[in-house]
Amino acid sequence: MVYKEKIFIIGGTGNVGQALVRSLLANPNVALTLYARSPAKLQELFGEQTDEKVQVIQGDYVNQKPFEQAIPGHTRLFLLLQVPDFDYSNIARGFAEKAYDAGVKQIVINSGITASMPWRSTTYSGVPFEKAVLDIPNRKAVVTLRPANFMSNQLMPGGDADNAKKSNMIFDTREPDQPNPWISPNDIGELAANILQEPIEKHGDAVYEMIGDPRTPTEHAEILSRVLGKTITYQKISEEQLYEAMTKQGGLAHTVAYLYVYFGQYTSKRTPGLSILLGRQPETLEQWIVKNKSAFS
Ligand SMILES: NC(=O)c1ccc[n+]([C@@H]2O[C@H](COP(=O)([O-])OP(=O)(O)OC[C@H]3O[C@@H](n4cnc5c(N)ncnc54)[C@H](OP(=O)(O)O)[C@@H]3O)[C@@H](O)[C@H]2O)c1
Repeated sequence: MVYKEKIFIIGGTGNVGQALVRSLLANPNVALTLYARSPAKLQELFGEQTDEKVQVIQGDYVNQKPFEQAIPGHTRLFLLLQVPDFDYSNIARGFAEKAYDAGVKQIVINSGITASMPWRSTTYSGVPFEKAVLDIPNRKAVVTLRPANFMSNQLMPGGDADNAKKSNMIFDTREPDQPNPWISPNDIGELAANILQEPIEKHGDAVYEMIGDPRTPTEHAEILSRVLGKTITYQKISEEQLYEAMTKQGGLAHTVAYLYVYFGQYTSKRTPGLSILLGRQPETLEQWIVKNKSAFS
C-alpha cells in the first residue's frame, strides 16, 4: 500500500493524542508512526494494528535515538510534550531539528494559551518552547496550537470529578460569574488532525488559540447537576487552598500549581473561527461531561 502522507506522532496516548490518532486512523491515505514509552498501552487504546498503516516506536524524551532512526520517510510530525516542570525547550528542539533534517515538511506543536499572555508574567510561558522550534535555521513549516484550560483537567486527582463524586461540590478561585476558558482535548486532537491532512501551504506558520466553551463556575455546577441528576454546588476557595490541593492531592510541581492559581484570574472569550478550523462547532463542556459521566459518579 502506498500512502500519501506518513505522519509521526509524539504524545499519541494522551488526552489530545488519542483524539488525533483516532481521527487519522480513519484516513486510508495516511500511515502513522506512534512514539510511546509503552507499546502495550497503544495496543490497549487503539487495538492491535496488524497492517503497515500503523508503526510503533518505543522511546522517550531523553534518548531520542529511536526517533532519529525512525523519522526518515515521514512528511509531518505532531509534537506534544508533557514535562513535569515545563522544561520543554531542549527536548522540543532535539525532536524538531532531527525531523527537519530528515525531510519533515510540517510540524504541528501543542503549546498553550500562556504563550499569548504577557511575556514573563508567570511561572511558565509557552514562548520558549515555541521559539525552540521557530528558531531552527532553514526549518520548514510549524503550526502552533495554543489551547486554554483542558476539560480533561476535571479528571485530575482531587479535581472536579473527585469532588463532585465525594461531596457534590466543585471548587475554584474564580468568582461564580467569571468564565473559565475551557477547551475539549478532542477539539485539539481533531484540529491537529485536520491541519496534518490539509495542504501545508494552507496553514504556513499559523498560530491558533483554542477556547471552545467558556463557562462560569455557576454554569459549570448547573451542567454537572443536569448531567449527573443530583445537585452540585460551586464553592469559591482561596488561592492558598487551591495551591495546597494542587500540590498535596494533585502532586503537581510548584511551577505548575502556581500557574493554575495565576490562571484563575485569566479569562477570555470563545476563540473566533474555531468552527471554521474544525468543520463543526467546538465541543461544549456539557457534551464533554456527558461523554465522561462515569468519572463523575
Ligand atoms: N491541561 C491543560 O489545561 C493544558 C493547557 C494548555 C496546554 N497544555 C499542554 O498540553 C500538554 C498535555 O496534553 P495531554 O493532556 O494530552 O497530555 P497527557 O494526557 O498527560 O499525555 C501526555 C503524553 O505524553 C507522553 N509522554 C509523557 N512523558 C513522556 C516521556 N518521557 N517520553 C515519551 N512520551 C511521554 C505520554 O505517553 P505515555 O503513554 O508513555 O504516558 C502521553 O502520550 C502539555 O504539554 C501541557 O503543557 C495543557
